[in-house]
Amino acid sequence: MEQRHILVAVTGGIAAYKAPELVRAFVKAGHAVRCVMTRAAAEFVSPMALQTVSGQPVRRELFDAAEEGGIDHIALADWADLVVVAPATAHTIARLAGGLADELVTTLALATRAPLLIAPAMNVNMWRHPATAANVATLTGRGVHWVGPDAGELACGWEGEGRMSDPARIAERAESLLGARDLTGVRLLVTAGGTREPVDAVRYLGNRSSGKMGYAVARQAARRGAEVVLVTGPSGLATPDGVRRVDVGTALEMRDAVLAEFAAADVVVKAAAVADFRPAAASELKIRKEDLADGAGLSLELVRNPDILAEICRDKGKRVVVGFAAESHDVIATARSKIARKGCDLLVANDVSNADSGFDVDHNTVSFVWPAGDVESLPPLSKDEVAGHLLDRVTKLLGDRE
Ligand code: PMT
Repeated sequence: MEQRHILVAVTGGIAAYKAPELVRAFVKAGHAVRCVMTRAAAEFVSPMALQTVSGQPVRRELFDAAEEGGIDHIALADWADLVVVAPATAHTIARLAGGLADELVTTLALATRAPLLIAPAMNVNMWRHPATAANVATLTGRGVHWVGPDAGELACGWEGEGRMSDPARIAERAESLLGARDLTGVRLLVTAGGTREPVDAVRYLGNRSSGKMGYAVARQAARRGAEVVLVTGPSGLATPDGVRRVDVGTALEMRDAVLAEFAAADVVVKAAAVADFRPAAASELKIRKEDLADGAGLSLELVRNPDILAEICRDKGKRVVVGFAAESHDVIATARSKIARKGCDLLVANDVSNADSGFDVDHNTVSFVWPAGDVESLPPLSKDEVAGHLLDRVTKLLGDRE
């Protein structure tokens, strides 16, 4: 297994006694591990135990001349391929959500560009408290990963969710996040979000795409080593680390941006929800109902937008091109006819009949539809997981072309 750098941050809960076992699992898997801990953590597990299993000195203080002399805290944040906070107390989760940087663990979490995996451990009522739930939601929105907490008997005597997951489960989750760097050297272009077609000075025709699916593809591809360009419609999402972002508004602008980047791409993933039609003429001024005859309606003439996916497929050469299709009914039949019409290598049929999946939520229920018509259906998954499965298929297609 490829050696990766894992920074384990231990915070002050009874589950800290399991941290040496976690570190040992990482070391056994061939990874280089460094440990940091809060002062409270040292009440539950000895720094010497962590030093012994990791083979490295354990840092506890942000400002300690001797420790900074070894490896300064920014260098430590840069060194990590993954930061694992285990156990993470409610207090640490709140401090991470607040972006505090007044001690070592939260400062490292703020400074690192590596993914952050958090294994919470606390009393069940603390876990369920709206304050903790809001902090978890904030961190999730920033792309933080979670493992657990598990349900069971808690050290405080309560039953319920709050136990730190077993070290083996945390290690397994960490391994999947570290993933393979199997897209190194691949240039991947991904589109995300919805386009906005102006009606007048203040209105547009749009859709509910948030960009989450396309951003997840960009994030996962960058993590797997790809050089990623993200062409995005308006979205409030943060640009994933290591991704070059090109902002567009309309379908025509998206087409220009895609065509400009297409020549250099090895893979194109079209997750965007592009408007099929736009108003034939957008009014430069706001259309006011007062300017229309009393009670009169308003008709808009719509003209077709170019089909960007079909256009690039006509000239795709050895590139791998993946399309998406969000459908509310006849999902597979429609996807089969769409892949035949558009000519892409793979179509992700996205079942949006359930409000929990599809536009502007964190999950998608997809089936991979292949040009010959065969179908692989996946259960509802997070968009990052869908992106992972999609990129596995892309890697295979690239391999087949070599
Ligand atoms: O952004 P999120 O909130 O995460 O939502 C995700 C999503 C639902 C937008 C996304 O996962 C998805 O399913 N995108 C496809 C939306 C869709 O219905 O596309 P379509 O069936 O209109 O188009 C099929 C394919 O052709 C798509 O790859 C699309 O990008 C492309 N297309 C469509 C029209 C057009 N004029 N040009 C295109 O390139």
